[in-house]
Amino acid sequence: MTIYNLGSINADLVYRVPHLPGPGGTLAARTLTRGLGGKGANMSVACARAAAHCRHIGAVGPDGQWAVQRLMEYGVDTRAIANAAEDTGHAIIAVDDSGENSIMIYPGANQALSEEEIALALEEAGPEDAFLFQNETNAQRAGAEMASAKGMRVAYAAAPFDAGAVRAVMPLLDLLFLNEVEAQQLAEATGTAPEALPVRDVIVTLGARGCRWYNTDTGAVQDFPAVPVQPVDTTGAGDTFTGYVMAGLDRGLPMAQAIGQATRAAAIMVTRPGAADVIPDLRDVQDFSG
Ligand code: ADP
Ligand code: NA
Repeated sequence: MTIYNLGSINADLVYRVPHLPGPGGTLAARTLTRGLGGKGANMSVACARAAAHCRHIGAVGPDGQWAVQRLMEYGVDTRAIANAAEDTGHAIIAVDDSGENSIMIYPGANQALSEEEIALALEEAGPEDAFLFQNETNAQRAGAEMASAKGMRVAYAAAPFDAGAVRAVMPLLDLLFLNEVEAQQLAEATGTAPEALPVRDVIVTLGARGCRWYNTDTGAVQDFPAVPVQPVDTTGAGDTFTGYVMAGLDRGLPMAQAIGQATRAAAIMVTRPGAADVIPDLRDVQDFSG
């Protein structure tokens, strides 16, 4: 079975600076590290690290072959990554000595996906496959409609949050991932609590407090405490969590077990600086003694 992930691919350019640059200021950065990021890429790598077959649907620019190469090295099926004329998406991240950061994202190729390419990528997909997406690309609704029409399990990680974007796809969803703030924003925008949403499974992640799973079919609500760790960098924890849940379900695990594995993977991720490049694999998760 395949997880088709329609998602962003970014270069995370992390600059270490003595202080964050202000308006009109010029500043020399001490170091630059270039990592693979973007919620889409992070989730695809998490799916692959968790032993699922994941086909990433996305685009990079002429400067983005290194990102495709890295995704491939991490086990992601990259055949449905298009070459766009736009620059590869990137995040310019300044981090100061106190750990405070400021981030500027350029979506670039992530907003240049064509519906034809998505249709082509989904050509062989069927009801045993899953479709995952986030709010960092264009053509989300078109992709979700195609997947739903094929009977695929449709899952949405509603980040970065936009109430209109969630509303547009809500009727197509089988599974919705929200963090605590997103869940609150959605409740305010729709007047509906997670357990009353028209989506069979809703998972609200709560950072260091773990997560809560609502099964709206049965009305069951289940809490999963986080694994206590010393946090170093929470970047990508939510994306790792989502990818692991999707992969667990794909491998036939019941939801509670998939969430259990995802919780351990996300905890490891919190202890590692970086994004896609440091997502743990199943072996790391099994060996993890936290
Ligand atoms: P997001 O990064 O999308 O905002 P969360 O911060 O809710 O998502 O984190 C997602 C999951 O990662 C949580 O449900 C939890 O399992 C794990 N996690 C996040 N922060 C911590 C932490 N400080 N310690 C342990 N686990 C964490
Ligand atoms: Na995160």
